[in-house]
Amino acid sequence: MIRSDINPFDSESGNRYLAFREMRGVAPAHEVDGGQLFIVRQKAVEEGLKSVGSFVGSFGDIGQAAEEDTIMAAIPEPRHGKIRKLFNSALAYNHASQVEPFVRRYAAGRIDDTLACATRDGEVEIMETYARRIPSAVIAEVLGIPNDRIDDFARWSDEVLVLQGEEDRVNEPIWSLHPEFTRYIEEQIQMRVDSEDPPNDMITRLLQVEVEGERLSQRAVLTQSMFLIIAGNETTRNLIGNVIRRLAEDPSRYQQVREDRSLVPTLVEETLRVDSPVQLLARTCTQDVEIDGVQIKKGDRVLHSLASANRDESVYSDPEEFRLDRPKPRDHVAFGAGPHICPGAFLARMETEVAVETLLDRVAEMALAPGYVWDPNPVFWALGPRTLRVILTPA
Ligand code: HEM
Repeated sequence: MIRSDINPFDSESGNRYLAFREMRGVAPAHEVDGGQLFIVRQKAVEEGLKSVGSFVGSFGDIGQAAEEDTIMAAIPEPRHGKIRKLFNSALAYNHASQVEPFVRRYAAGRIDDTLACATRDGEVEIMETYARRIPSAVIAEVLGIPNDRIDDFARWSDEVLVLQGEEDRVNEPIWSLHPEFTRYIEEQIQMRVDSEDPPNDMITRLLQVEVEGERLSQRAVLTQSMFLIIAGNETTRNLIGNVIRRLAEDPSRYQQVREDRSLVPTLVEETLRVDSPVQLLARTCTQDVEIDGVQIKKGDRVLHSLASANRDESVYSDPEEFRLDRPKPRDHVAFGAGPHICPGAFLARMETEVAVETLLDRVAEMALAPGYVWDPNPVFWALGPRTLRVILTPA
């Protein structure tokens, strides 16, 4: 195994990408400080993520918690396949086209607030007024939870991630980390269980859906609902923030997309590729396996770098360039690969495209605020702005 002294966790994302490039040039996987195997080439990342018989998803120890206390991303096969089927059939009801009118209305209201919050020079912190709110609202809408809890959802997601990052809590069930969040979701579940005519929303469907004669327990619905809120919130917020930054840092790019709206989907996909909101996926190896020629042993901790895979020069020409004319812009692994591939990708794409279109409608020009310094989200596996100060000129 190649031991690397390069730091792939460098908090300066530019340095991190230089490190990945050097690592990809040498081998598909490297042992890094902390003892994990860090996988950098796209072929190896895809192979690793698809090998669900040899890996289980986790940052902590595996097999510690009961299945109903385990988030879907960490349930081993073959059980994951079954739980995922239940989950997919509950989510399938929410076609992007059904949620889209709500997102358009909600985003229009938030852009009004954003413009109203701006200083006389048009300066505003757009993560707080806009990017952070949209994903919370969409998850609330899908789950069937009143809109007045949107701010709490965003706050609770942040707080759970901080708590989960504490070393001695990494193995705790999600519901034991945050009593206020847990109590609220438990009440929502109980209300539907007690009702003779529960609303047709994601929580009710998670309670009722049956695959091969099996339903989820109330505790499993609690675990997966809390996970869904966090999984859909943090990631999409980072994506919306990254897209806005890509537009604000280059006013000519903003004008180009404003004049040709057909570029919006490519703008979103290219941001997913170059600024992957989920930078890393952690796995523990459960049986010896070979991935792209690399021997991995049972018990090894493995980090799949989506950020590096998405800049692999053997897959993309000009991989470091942000291009709005990239052929096959969806050809990236920002949503993962294999059986755990993100089930919410269709929602994330739709809400980000709507967020951008609403901005383009209402804002004639956008630039980074003078003196703005990149202020990253502190979650180590994520990439996105914690705050983003921009200057907006209303249309
Ligand atoms: C830009 C936004 C998003 C990104 C980049 C993203 C990325 C990912 C990735 C990389 C995975 C694979 C995890 C793994 O293999 O361990 C994943 C899984 C998942 N995502 Fe997303 N996601 C996004 C938005 C969403 C949304 C909006 C939802 C909810 C509706 C969602 C729900 C989930 C769930 C439940 C899983 C677990 C699936 C499983 O383990 O089978 N995500 N996501």
